[in-house]
Amino acid sequence: MPRFAPWVDTAVRALPEALPDGPVLVPCCGTFPELDVLTEHLPGREIVGIDLSAGMAARARRRAAGNPLVRVLEGDASKLDLTAAAVVSVFGLQQLPEPDAALRSWAGALRPGGWLSVVYWPHSTEPGGPFTVLSDVLREHIPAGDRSWESRLTSSLERTAIERDEQVSFPMVHPDADTFFTAHTRSGPMRPLATARGERFVATLREEFLRRSPAGEWRHRPLARHIVARAPSPA
Ligand SMILES: C[S@@+](CC[C@H](N)C(=O)[O-])C[C@H]1O[C@@H](n2cnc3c(N)ncnc32)[C@H](O)[C@@H]1O
Repeated sequence: MPRFAPWVDTAVRALPEALPDGPVLVPCCGTFPELDVLTEHLPGREIVGIDLSAGMAARARRRAAGNPLVRVLEGDASKLDLTAAAVVSVFGLQQLPEPDAALRSWAGALRPGGWLSVVYWPHSTEPGGPFTVLSDVLREHIPAGDRSWESRLTSSLERTAIERDEQVSFPMVHPDADTFFTAHTRSGPMRPLATARGERFVATLREEFLRRSPAGEWRHRPLARHIVARAPSPA
């Protein structure tokens, strides 16, 4: 999605060019937008994408076709059994059942001197933006999930040096609120809920969302959290 490209670029370019030997792991790679930036930023490096979804892994493999340095694994990236020069992940962490445990595992996969760069959507992305408005609408029908893991992420990285922990925001534009809602429920993170609860429920949400949304083009600047950490170098 071109809309998310600036965050992908930021996450990948936070990795230094000088890394220990070994692959770069990309948990929750989806269609693998990280790949193009990675091959440009770290030429010659082995890269391994991992995604739970067979469909996403197939798309990622299509993107990687012809590059012998790239592999795509279909499986759960919550726990990594590989070792890596670096781990980079964009917008996957918040989808995992125990993100703080996953981040601990990703940091544990780093070889000495290895780097981790993770971007995820925090609970609060921006006041009044479409993600927040939709989440407010949803809260009236479905209780909020447990977000206490967010405050435990830094302790998941206790064996590393945290180089950066900041909010990163870029402009986004949607033709209108209805288009945003359709994308979010048909091909975005709310698709499983929409499938489970059916069309009537989705129509109710749409009506409430549109009532609270501005008319016309919707420009906003969502904030993602970006964490960069480094495993200690060998003595
Ligand atoms: C929002 S997408 C982000 C994909 C990609 N990194 C990007 O920036 O476009 C999140 C991805 O995480 C994957 N995912 C969710 N849970 C997972 C898990 N337990 N293990 C591996 N991948 C997972 C989903 O299948 C989805 O492709």
